[in-house]
Amino acid sequence: MNILVTGGAGYIGSHTVRALQQTKDLIPIVFDNLSTGHEESVPDSVQLVTGDIHDVFFLKHILSEYEIDGVIHFAASSLVGESMTDPAKYYYNNVEGTLHLLIAMHEAGVDNLVFSSTAAVYGEPEKTPIEEDFPTVPTNVYGRTKLQIETMMKDFAMAYEMKYVALRYFNAAGADLDGTIGEDHSPETHLIPLILKTAQGVRDHISIFGTDYPTADGTCLRDYIHVLDLAQAHILAMRHLLQGGEGGAFNLGSEKGFSVREIIDKTKEVTGRDFRVTEEARRAGDPAVLIASSEKIRRVLGWQPEHSSTEEIIASAWKWHQAHPYGYAK
Ligand code: UFG
Repeated sequence: MNILVTGGAGYIGSHTVRALQQTKDLIPIVFDNLSTGHEESVPDSVQLVTGDIHDVFFLKHILSEYEIDGVIHFAASSLVGESMTDPAKYYYNNVEGTLHLLIAMHEAGVDNLVFSSTAAVYGEPEKTPIEEDFPTVPTNVYGRTKLQIETMMKDFAMAYEMKYVALRYFNAAGADLDGTIGEDHSPETHLIPLILKTAQGVRDHISIFGTDYPTADGTCLRDYIHVLDLAQAHILAMRHLLQGGEGGAFNLGSEKGFSVREIIDKTKEVTGRDFRVTEEARRAGDPAVLIASSEKIRRVLGWQPEHSSTEEIIASAWKWHQAHPYGYAK
């Protein structure tokens, strides 16, 4: 079976491509415009098609040419802060880009879609752990675009043959265990890579954004999930659709929350390095606690996280950062 992976040169995409390769029967073909993805992350043995999801004609051609059976769709803009200052970019790349993909899939007769969604669709939850049927009230443009895409996919699924799974990730982190691929965003805004860059001395200090949250140590709690466990979930979701299973939205988290301070302390322990930590005001739009219930994906898809302890997440990311202190290109 041939699987088109849009955004397959990005962080989660590249790990999913590796996981697909290991299945032997699901063959990944990467489709990426390389605007934020890294060509170096695509293995030589995988076909890379450089193209843009806005180009319906080209997409349709690729879907037919490679006899694609299913699409895993990562290609998107994904910086929460930027989405607030440049909403046009987010509605264009995420909503309109996915509409173009859906049209191309429909016209090419490709029916199976696994979509990279986010915990940001829930906004500030009233209670935790968050279940899939909780209210979806995103507090930022990024989350709103992902929610609109989920609605679009639902409408396409009702009208046509199409089926989809939306995976709502909590905090993706970690890297492939061999240290050859990992997280390389520009600018980097995520907590764990920023702490690791500080441990390496590439950054001077790590700032804690907010110490007055209603949590045990006053800092935000997040549910960190290893990128390898995320990658496996995409494969399970694609197999589920290919076997005629029912689609829908699934949370992807480890069901445990760790505070910013706990992650900093754990990083000091795992790396054996000490570094400067400062305290700053809250970052706008950060919910105090985001923890997933992953009962649905465990029950329906048989998903089991295997690498999502904070030790393994931090140790694997540390291995990547040590081998590539300035990311891919340098
Ligand atoms: N944080 C700091 N200092 C930093 C960076 C982050 O204290 O320098 C804190 C944040 O305030 C937050 C926690 O660390 O409390 C995690 O922040 P990240 O930026 O790593 O991740 P987010 O929880 O903000 O974002 C993640 C995903 C988004 C997704 C969002 C859902 O990265 O894609 O969850 O709310 F939209």
